Amino acid sequence: MPVFKRLVLYMKPYWWRILIAVLASSAYGGLDAAFAWMVEPLLKKIFVTKDVFIFSILPFAIIFIFVFRAICRYLNDYFMRTAAQLAMQDVRNEIFRKNVFLDLKFFYRNQTGSLMSRIVNDVAMMQNGIGGIITGVFRDFIGLVTLLGVIFYRDWQLALISILVIPLTVYPASILGTRIKKNARRGQEEAGYFASILQETLSGIKVVKAFSLEQAMIDQFANANKKYYNFTEKLIKYNSLSAPIMEIITSLGIAAVIFYGGSKVMANTMTAPEFFSFITAMALVYSPLKKLINAYHETQRCIGAAERVFEIIDAVPEIIENPDGHTLSPNDTRVELKNVRFKYQDDYIINNVSLIAEKGEIVALVGPSGGGKTTIVSLIARFFDVNEGQIIIGSNDIRDITKSSLMNHIALVDQETILFHDSIANNIRYGKPEATDDEIIRAAQAAFAHDFVMDMPKGYETSIGDRGIRLSGGQRQRLCIARAILKNAPILILDEATSALDTESEQMVQRALDNLMNNRTTFVIAHRLSTVLHADKIIVLEHGKIVESGTHQVLLQNNGLYSRLCSVQLGNG
Ligand SMILES: Nc1ncnc2c1ncn2[C@@H]1O[C@H](COP(=O)(O)OP(=O)(O)O)[C@@H](O)[C@H]1O
Ligand SMILES: [Mg+2]
Repeated sequence: MPVFKRLVLYMKPYWWRILIAVLASSAYGGLDAAFAWMVEPLLKKIFVTKDVFIFSILPFAIIFIFVFRAICRYLNDYFMRTAAQLAMQDVRNEIFRKNVFLDLKFFYRNQTGSLMSRIVNDVAMMQNGIGGIITGVFRDFIGLVTLLGVIFYRDWQLALISILVIPLTVYPASILGTRIKKNARRGQEEAGYFASILQETLSGIKVVKAFSLEQAMIDQFANANKKYYNFTEKLIKYNSLSAPIMEIITSLGIAAVIFYGGSKVMANTMTAPEFFSFITAMALVYSPLKKLINAYHETQRCIGAAERVFEIIDAVPEIIENPDGHTLSPNDTRVELKNVRFKYQDDYIINNVSLIAEKGEIVALVGPSGGGKTTIVSLIARFFDVNEGQIIIGSNDIRDITKSSLMNHIALVDQETILFHDSIANNIRYGKPEATDDEIIRAAQAAFAHDFVMDMPKGYETSIGDRGIRLSGGQRQRLCIARAILKNAPILILDEATSALDTESEQMVQRALDNLMNNRTTFVIAHRLSTVLHADKIIVLEHGKIVESGTHQVLLQNNGLYSRLCSVQLGNG
């Protein structure tokens, strides 16, 4: 569907606001014509017949017309702008809704800052344009048509001469329009780029400072900012060229009319008041014409931004919900990977991995970093779909399970301890939205988080996250574990869940995790092998392949990669 049509569809729910605005703006546009039309009788009455009555009501009429015009203008502005705001509010909600449902792959491909910029800047650009365009178009179109009516009524030959210039404006207007759209789009892309520099610098400010990268970041930012300016400068140039070019073209019309009309006055076939009324209408007619052309250019700008917004709204998730997906029962805790192959981009990262986690088993994934451990558990949680092979939970391929059922079935704790700007209680509650305060406290106790939470100024109501109180890595991790405990899901994935803890708290958390692992199928990834000693199965991964598997004892006897990893770690203490 053409972008412009889609924009209009977003405005549709607010049609009555738009209708009021359009009526008001039409009246407003029509008043100009009325004014031009009145010039002739007024001049006649005042200059020729010297009518005292007309003269005395004239000031009141003028005030009345302007008050009426002012009211129309207010109604137009208010209703049109609110309609545009509401429509763009819908666009923003939709883009955000679509965005959060997209797969992780999409987010790895697109920079956060640039996505944010689309949701904030591009929608704002659409919003600024669209309201003005719609009313502007109606007001100026009505103005144009009615003024043309007055001109034709006065003298059709003169009128024809005056509108001859209108076709001349089409070509430059369309050339400018194309350039405006192109540069608006590229400018918005550049704005997205510097938004991502901004986002990365601010969220990584500690590293920026630790490595004295301030100047480098400043230069990068200034560079992107400058590129943004270059596109904007072109945009401004083409926009600013619009009015002067149109004025030059319309001056041809005015010159021709004055010459032709003037010669008629000289030949006494036109009266002076007629001529002035005509000239007034002419002068007025070109103003809506210029504005219409301007609105066309504004539309092009809007479309440039809208294209970027619609690209996200139209992005199709690769992970598709099976419409007749099954839901899992709590007993479906057997997990099997069958000949799984997977790639992020061109090369297979996971190659022919097959493994079985029986109900209640603890399966440890170990091996050098980059071996594919995190990728495998991401596949089990269906953050990505396998390229070949199958993952089966209970008796269902995970692609035949509804997303919500699968997500309810799996609790994940990984290195990224994501806490939101909210109270501690609410952060734990994300694990189970309907949990009571009591359940939250019990989950925190099981995660050995209760004590430090009680030491906080407001206990469980203490605000944490971005603008809240700062927690240590271990504290953050324990809250995430409490969240997973509260979720009480049959399958548990621990990806380096204890890596941020010191040895003492690791032991505590290990006990918490032991509580948690009871009766659950658990996948555990840990860089400290001491935590995987008691796993039922240890899978050793290297370059995305299983190189060994078995229990600790068996693997030690194998004298392979595992026993080498063990001796390195134990040797280092
Ligand atoms: N989002 C991603 N996009 C592309 N490649 C990735 C991505 N995540 C991981 N990889 C690659 O996949 C391989 C396995 O990574 P990962 O599963 O994180 O290993 P591990 O958890 O064992 O350290 C690595 O070579 C890594 O570079
Ligand atoms: Mg990993």
